[in-house]
Amino acid sequence: MLQEYREGLLYDEEGRLCFGESKFLVEDLALEFGTPLYVYSASLIQGALREFYGALKSQAGGRSFLICYSVKANSNLSILRLIQKEGAGADIVSAGELHRCRKAGIDPQKIVFSGVGKSPEELEYGLKEGILLFSVESADELFLLDKLARRHGIQARVSLRINPDLTASTHPYISTGGRKDKFGIPSEEILDISLRFREKCQEKDREKSQKKSQDSKGDTGGVEICGLGFHIGSQILDTSSFEQAATILCELRSSLQKSGFSIRYLDVGGGIGIRYKDEKTPAIKDYLTCLFRKLPQDADLNLLFEPGRFIIGNAGILITKILLSKNNRGNKIYVCDAAMNDLMRPALYQSYHEILAHRKERGKCNSSLVGPICESGDFFANERLLPSFEQGDYAAICSCGAYGFSMSSNYNSRLRLAEVLIQGNKAKLIRQRERYEDLLSLEESCMF
Ligand SMILES: Cc1ncc(COP(=O)(O)O)c(C=O)c1O
Repeated sequence: MLQEYREGLLYDEEGRLCFGESKFLVEDLALEFGTPLYVYSASLIQGALREFYGALKSQAGGRSFLICYSVKANSNLSILRLIQKEGAGADIVSAGELHRCRKAGIDPQKIVFSGVGKSPEELEYGLKEGILLFSVESADELFLLDKLARRHGIQARVSLRINPDLTASTHPYISTGGRKDKFGIPSEEILDISLRFREKCQEKDREKSQKKSQDSKGDTGGVEICGLGFHIGSQILDTSSFEQAATILCELRSSLQKSGFSIRYLDVGGGIGIRYKDEKTPAIKDYLTCLFRKLPQDADLNLLFEPGRFIIGNAGILITKILLSKNNRGNKIYVCDAAMNDLMRPALYQSYHEILAHRKERGKCNSSLVGPICESGDFFANERLLPSFEQGDYAAICSCGAYGFSMSSNYNSRLRLAEVLIQGNKAKLIRQRERYEDLLSLEESCMF
């Protein structure tokens, strides 16, 4: 019986690295689709979603819930379609992501629009699509959204994102609930802002009804505050942070309810950590136990979950070819054809990704795996035990389904790479490798 080495990855009897439910050889994928190449496993994505849904069903105790997949983790249309077919909705942070979700057939009534700075055009797009909720992060945004909704005669629902003043133990760049972080509204200001907003709305409604009696038109639009939410960061391994945030959320809900607001949506964000190296990750049922200990059990309450990394992080690999090796003053360096523009995480967060050779028999040596870009941050592994690669070998960089391709760029005028989805016994191209024409198309037509 072959032992799975990591999620979806194993070496077959002949020592060849395979990926996906039908055990595609990494070498074959590289030869067929070229490198560098992202490859995802549909069954791993579905498995993570079903695990989440299964745990929710058994633990929610009558509360309604919806998983809104965090699109920023990986926004490929085929991935979104796969997720939509599993019944999930989406958590989006831009008009571009909304556009993708609608193309992928995601019901707008399952879409939450998050983000600390949405433009008026983005808010209007969300209003016109009739999305489920706007997760609002400031008083300015709340008043602007209300103005736009009134102008268009649209009734919109708002969930206020709280900043609970809570620093989750994760990389500082992905901790988002701390006192001075730019995200959310300080929890101590939520009630005041909500009351001030309601007062202003009542004023506007009075003016409107006076005007209406003179001229029978008048709009019906506006915003209702009916939700509260948090997202305290990403790659969180300690579930107690979620529990603390949920406590604050529920206290705030009670005080808003006492002041006459009907808070029917509680959004607990995403952030569940996954295994990159040897981290002890929280089981989904333990994560939910922590939350459900705190969350009320009211019949009219809808709970929203926004996982991204948990759904797709371990379902994707980046295959790259070893271009050459060199030895700089005793430091063995492998240069591969992927670079930081293809996978930013090591450069941005010093993140760890396991690296496997396409052949098991390669020994190990202390070395670095780097890309060809002229930046010292362009590395995938720095001076650690790696396979002893030979020129032309393929390496699989593990656990880069989330925040991999979605953060990629054309830096150094490198063509953005292709993406492949393994589904059953098929490996299907889901994004073409860019061509030189794609690189220039938006400039050539308006070249000086
Ligand atoms: C508002 C919001 N929700 C959900 C997520 C998804 O987080 P994760 O991928 O860690 O689950 C993010 C990511 O930063 C986010 O900003």
